[in-house]
Amino acid sequence: MTTTKAPVITVDGPSGAGKGTLAGLLTQKLGWQFLDSGALYRVVALAAKKHQITSDDIPALVRMTTALDVRFEHQAERVAIFLEGDDITDQVRLETTGNLASKIAPIQEVRTALGQRQQSFRQAPGLVADGRDMGTIVFPDAELKFYLTASAEERAKRRFLQLKEQGLNVSIARLTEEIQERDARDMERKVAPLVPASDAILLDSSVMSVEAVFEKAMSYVKARELA
Ligand code: DC
Repeated sequence: MTTTKAPVITVDGPSGAGKGTLAGLLTQKLGWQFLDSGALYRVVALAAKKHQITSDDIPALVRMTTALDVRFEHQAERVAIFLEGDDITDQVRLETTGNLASKIAPIQEVRTALGQRQQSFRQAPGLVADGRDMGTIVFPDAELKFYLTASAEERAKRRFLQLKEQGLNVSIARLTEEIQERDARDMERKVAPLVPASDAILLDSSVMSVEAVFEKAMSYVKARELA
C-alpha cells in the first residue's frame, strides 16, 4: 500500500502543552493530513455512553471500537466530528468527555482496536499526528517526532484563563494540582504511558511563545527536508 510510505510528524506530550496548536499550524503550513488521536479516544467514550457499554465490558468495547462509524469533516473554521451521522463536535470537547476518555484510554484492547484506524490516516502527502503515544507506539517509524511539554504551573495558568473566559472561577493552585495528578496517571500507567520517544525532539512551551515553538519545529521540518 502506498499509504504506508507517506511521511509522519508526531506531536506528543501532556494535555495543555499546546500540542493541538502546534500540530494544527504544522498541518496548515505543510498541507498534510491531521490525526487528533485524543479526539478518537473521546469519540469512543461518547459512543460507549450512547450504546450503554461500560468500561468493564471489554469484548463489547472492542467490537464497538472496531466498527466505530466516525467521520472528521474539514469545515471553514473547524474540523467537525460525526458519530453515526450526528454532529458531536461540541460534545467531544467537553471536560466530562475528556474524563470519560481517560477511563477507556488505559484499556489495551481499545488501544489495539484504534491502532489500525489511526494508521489509516497516514496518507500522501503526509500526516501530522497529535497524541500521547504517536511517536512511541502508533508511528514508531515517523520521520520527525516532537515532544511538547510545559510546566504544570504554566498549563494551569492557561487553563485558568480559558475557564475565566467562560465565566468560571477556579483557583490556579487547584488546577495545578489536578494537572499534576493527571500527569502522574498518564506517565505511570502500564499501558502506553506518556513518555517521549527516545528520538523525540523536546520543546518546552513554558519558555517559548506559540510562534517560537512553531518556528523551532519548522526548522527541524526543513532540516529533514520534509517541507
Ligand atoms: O488529548 P485529549 O485530552 O483529547 O485526550 C483525551 C484522552 O485520551 C486523555 O485521557 C488521554 C487519552 N489519549 C491517549 O491515551 N492516547 C492518545 N494518543 C491520545 C489521547
